Amino acid sequence: MNTASDMHLCGKEFEWPTANNQVVVLNGDTRELICAIPDNSVQCAVTSPPYWGVRDYGVSDQIGAEPDLTAYVKSLVDVFREVRRVLTPDGTFWLNIGNTYSSGGRKWRDVDDKNKGRGMSYRPPTPEGFKKKDLIGVAWLLALECQRDGWYLRNDIIWYKPNCQPESVKDRLTVAHEYLFLFSKSERYYFDQDAIKQQTTNGDGLKNRRTVWSINTEPCPEAHFAVFPKALVRPCIMAGSCPNDVILDPFYGAGTTGIVAKELGRRCIGIELNREYIDIAQKRTAEVQGSLILEG
Ligand SMILES: C[S@@+](CC[C@H](N)C(=O)[O-])C[C@H]1O[C@@H](n2cnc3c(N)ncnc32)[C@H](O)[C@@H]1O
Repeated sequence: MNTASDMHLCGKEFEWPTANNQVVVLNGDTRELICAIPDNSVQCAVTSPPYWGVRDYGVSDQIGAEPDLTAYVKSLVDVFREVRRVLTPDGTFWLNIGNTYSSGGRKWRDVDDKNKGRGMSYRPPTPEGFKKKDLIGVAWLLALECQRDGWYLRNDIIWYKPNCQPESVKDRLTVAHEYLFLFSKSERYYFDQDAIKQQTTNGDGLKNRRTVWSINTEPCPEAHFAVFPKALVRPCIMAGSCPNDVILDPFYGAGTTGIVAKELGRRCIGIELNREYIDIAQKRTAEVQGSLILEG
């Protein structure tokens, strides 16, 4: 099934990536387009979805702009249920997500000079059960909902960002981490532990990779939003797939997953709502032969 071409794309057709390193990007709402991907056809999924109420991606059907936290979590759990459907039975899903704070009563989020996309014309209200200034553990709310929905939750990896943005806060610590959750579709699954081993502390050998990853954020001047660093995506694809396998990113953005998949000789399918970001992704993966864009 996973070498088929001319798949039926919810009324349209798209060409399944057949060539090694080929990246196919679908332009549209992931909730509408993911249905075109056949069951059990993708080995590994890696994504960083829109965070709740943090960035305006400038498109009307964007996820992340729901005024209600429960609706946001449900939107993502629904998308990720489809991700589980398309994964092979031994497939894995790597989800990068950070927490947020309740707004403290402010109605909008100021534009951040260092990160132009970090501004919104509204701020979600404080969710029921939370107080102003509360840390909302969105990452864990989502992870546990995914687990309840059928995923095996296998690891919570801390992505520590040594170069995190400073915060002008006086009554709490500066947040310098996000989460990377490892989920599997089944109890037993493909996992190449050896491919991602790390140096022992005294440097005389290799040991199983630990759950705290220290990785600097990576600037992407073309995109006015945070892309995830290639160094975060690389171990996920290396452990979760073999060369020529198909990798999926349902929130493709500026295409970091595609770049890493290509570097590692995997095929990739990305889904992205904002056409401008796909153009950026195309530039970043310019050397990827046979890269395609199809309208949703
Ligand atoms: C955090 S960004 C992904 C960045 C990406 N990991 C990268 O490195 O470039 C989330 C992306 O989800 C996209 N998005 C939001 N809602 C969407 C939807 N309903 N369908 C498809 N993409 C959506 C946004 O446009 C944005 O590009």
